[in-house]
Amino acid sequence: MSNESLAGEIRALAQEKNAIILAHNYQVPEVQDIADLTGDSLALSIQASETEADIIIFCGVRFMAETAAIVCPDKKVILPVKEAGCGMADMLNAAELKAEKAKYPGVPVVTYVNSTAEVKAESDICCTSANAVQVVKSLKTPEVLMTPDKNLAMWVQRHTDQKIHYWLGYCPIHDDLTVAQVKVAKAAHPEALLMAHPECPPEVLDMADAVRSTSGMLTFAAESKAKEFIVATEIGLLYTLKKQNPGKRFYAASPEMVCIDMKKTGLKEVLQALQTEGPVIVVPEPIRLMALKAVERMMAVPRDL
Ligand code: 13P
Ligand code: SF4
Repeated sequence: MSNESLAGEIRALAQEKNAIILAHNYQVPEVQDIADLTGDSLALSIQASETEADIIIFCGVRFMAETAAIVCPDKKVILPVKEAGCGMADMLNAAELKAEKAKYPGVPVVTYVNSTAEVKAESDICCTSANAVQVVKSLKTPEVLMTPDKNLAMWVQRHTDQKIHYWLGYCPIHDDLTVAQVKVAKAAHPEALLMAHPECPPEVLDMADAVRSTSGMLTFAAESKAKEFIVATEIGLLYTLKKQNPGKRFYAASPEMVCIDMKKTGLKEVLQALQTEGPVIVVPEPIRLMALKAVERMMAVPRDL
């Protein structure tokens, strides 16, 4: 079946079943094109919490669908490919976080949404790359413990006087980007501005003209007078950047920045998810209630990046 026929079937079935299709900015182009909404983790969580649809088809990775299930217990949240995970989220479990918390009594835990529901449940507040600085500042405590991303934590440390303790997790895709690779991209495109995701290592962020979430990069590129940009994040974002800015040019900081898990979902998987109404993501109720507190607390804080 062609992509066009698959897309037609998906749209018709989504309407018939009152399903909303959410897609992360890293999804493959054809999936982004059939989605009701594309966005970064924060935008998609907010959209999930506000939707009146009965079914949420979450085209992304497990922690994103779990977040939707945490905020929408009355909806069927479906992750089309149940094996779509996140290397960073797998770097911290609840037992490890409990042990880490014991080292810092009374210090609040700020957990990046790229984490399991169990880890969120052990946290005081969540954050995304779009609101991390604001979330930490909102706590007004002299110290915080950030998990699981060391690079996001070190980025936040540059913007606050609060002492940031952090877990040594990282995104295998962003953390691999080197200064040497960025130098090669800059040499090839000397006029281009560098946009980087805060999951990149500090020495790469030092070279950036803008450090933003994925949706923050879309806004920055649209508003900037510059015509060329090097993009230091997963290459899926290049599709939307190019589509939304036909007069501008975008280059990957490295062609190796591919998140395999984000590429597991295609149109066939989306159609199958709608037809079978599965796989459904279920978060056990005691965990969900604890995680919900941390997610809702985050949602009350405005985004800043
Ligand atoms: P954003 O929230 O910026 O879209 O990032 C999510 C992610 O997984 C980055 O690797
Ligand atoms: Fe996780 Fe990195 Fe993939 Fe984002 S790009 S989903 S942080 S592994």
